[in-house]
Amino acid sequence: MRVLSGIQPSGQLHLGNYFGSIKPNLAYLGKADESIFFIADLHALTTLQDAEAMKQNRRDIVLDYLACGFDPDSTIIFFQSDVPEHSELSWILSTVTPTALLERAVSYKEKAEKGIAASAGLFTYPVLMAADILLYQADLVPVGRDQKQHLEIARDIAVKFNHAYGRTFKLPEPLIREEVEVVPGTDGQKMSKSYGNTIPFFGEEKDIESAVMGIVTDSKGMNDPKDPETCTVYKIHKLFLGKKEQQELADRYRAGGLGYGEAKKMLFAAIMDTFGPMRRKRVEFLKKAKVVEEVTREGAKKASHLAGVTMEQVKRATGLR
Ligand code: ADP
Ligand code: TRP
Repeated sequence: MRVLSGIQPSGQLHLGNYFGSIKPNLAYLGKADESIFFIADLHALTTLQDAEAMKQNRRDIVLDYLACGFDPDSTIIFFQSDVPEHSELSWILSTVTPTALLERAVSYKEKAEKGIAASAGLFTYPVLMAADILLYQADLVPVGRDQKQHLEIARDIAVKFNHAYGRTFKLPEPLIREEVEVVPGTDGQKMSKSYGNTIPFFGEEKDIESAVMGIVTDSKGMNDPKDPETCTVYKIHKLFLGKKEQQELADRYRAGGLGYGEAKKMLFAAIMDTFGPMRRKRVEFLKKAKVVEEVTREGAKKASHLAGVTMEQVKRATGLR
């Protein structure tokens, strides 16, 4: 069973990324016979056009993932742009992709509506993503719900190619991470960089603390009973707790006597407690000057080998060999 996933290097990680993507990915990749995880830097070019920020983000995300527990001995970790076959296959796949399929992509429409330049790259984003997946003949692709449609498009593209040229690609199965609900941000909307409502877990402790203290609550006083299910502080805190502890905390909210200030302090302590070991590991990795280069160079070598096998099949199928 080959499991593959990727992430864009798009800035500082937040709790939404951790609970919605990193933690479940770690679990899936850990269980696979073969796991592939890459940094989708070519995809990031569709929204980030700042070379310094790109360089920094690429490096940071590898350090972040290593600190979170991704193990380069058991997972192939690399930068998408280090394996040129991604772009090559993307072009070939684009020639069997109906534009109507891409026009239906919600993510494209949403990004364009948000004011991101509607470039050809943004429009063909799902084709590159299909190439990322099909290049490695992945069986399972764990992604968040927001990426489900992209995976369906990848399957459609594989079907089109197989229909035109004979069975070449395995159809990847999406593994939608359902177990985690959308993590709310400090304002109660979905936590997202683009909404400026994130709580980071790496970086300065004081930034984490001020993000937590800034969570918007209603104006109930300390002694008022509170409804945990509508409280953002509780909704985030419960991600750190087991079922029984969740229940106990919920009871304290309902009973009254727990003020929001104290609730936030408890949440902050839970964050520092859970992420403390990862934060320390990251500091250690940071001291090893070459760790990012070494891990990704080795990863790219292994990935290129696998990609080469598929490209050979594709070239034979299409008559390019
Ligand atoms: P952002 O919305 O901050 O730009 P990304 O789109 O880069 O975050 O997120 C990468 C992955 O992290 C997503 O595919 C999704 O699975 C997960 N994720 C991001 N935000 C959340 C959230 N608030 N709740 C759950 N999962 C999230
Ligand atoms: N589009 C994904 C995201 O923004 C990242 C990604 C790129 C990806 N290629 C992929 C995820 C291939 C899984 C498989 O989250």
